[in-house]
Amino acid sequence: MSRAQILDGRALAARIRTKVAAQVAALADRVRPGLAVVLVGDDPPSHIYVRNKQRAVLGAGMASFEHVLEDSVAEADLLDLMERLNTDPAVHGILVQLPLPQSIDAVKVLNAVDPAKDVDGFHPINVGRLWTGTFALVPCTPLGCMTLLEETHQPLAGRHAVVVGQSNIVGKPLAGLLLAANCTVTMAHAYTRDLPEICRQGDILVTAVGHPRLVRGDWIKPGATIIDVGINRVPTGDGGTRLVGDVDFRAAAEVAGAITPVPGGVGPVTIASLLANTVTAACRLAGVAEPEV
Ligand code: GUN
Repeated sequence: MSRAQILDGRALAARIRTKVAAQVAALADRVRPGLAVVLVGDDPPSHIYVRNKQRAVLGAGMASFEHVLEDSVAEADLLDLMERLNTDPAVHGILVQLPLPQSIDAVKVLNAVDPAKDVDGFHPINVGRLWTGTFALVPCTPLGCMTLLEETHQPLAGRHAVVVGQSNIVGKPLAGLLLAANCTVTMAHAYTRDLPEICRQGDILVTAVGHPRLVRGDWIKPGATIIDVGINRVPTGDGGTRLVGDVDFRAAAEVAGAITPVPGGVGPVTIASLLANTVTAACRLAGVAEPEV
């Protein structure tokens, strides 16, 4: 029997989406937040993520603009599209779904997004703002992780947070947010020595590595909060597949104080964070205060 608090990402995401929809309604006579999603190529998971994002955007009453391009698209054409979206007054958020095809310089494309419309928080200006504590648009998955941590009602200052995974999308920005919340932060990654021992030191343990059930029950400090960002598809043995995280959920739930499930943990909150970022960007661009709802 699991003793840990299960951090229900679906329920939390539903509450955020309700709040965002109320904000969008309150803004109706001033600005209608709009998100442009750019998808290049035919990576099947990316198509699913983009469809879920657009559904959520429309569900909150915002405008959604979709740009689906062949993976043979020229980099220059993609940069032209960025320029058009940057100057389109109906677009307040721009999301370029990653990964981009090998033929395209992803850094060049992400750097072409107007930082004021960068709802992914990937532009170097927004990365710099995050690390200097002057942030506005923060990457959606790390923002979702912080919102999930709030669900445990624990003070974060002084807690030892161990982040496994050093990606630009999750690990690094999350480390910055945890540091801003006055956690003591350890970054672990593929070259880290004695990973189990490092993980056992975490009052908070976040995993974002894409390795199914890497983290075992005995890697976890009793009572720790576990945020599992991994989404891994594994065979079920009967010819089917299912999604699991980077953490052995069943074993971890015996030891942890709180834990996110996969699916239904970080994923839904990430999409809700995207909606919240789009409202933030729209309000800033329109020069209006974010409605308190
Ligand atoms: N691909 C995987 N995660 C993300 C994300 O958070 N944003 C974008 N743009 N692409 C992704």
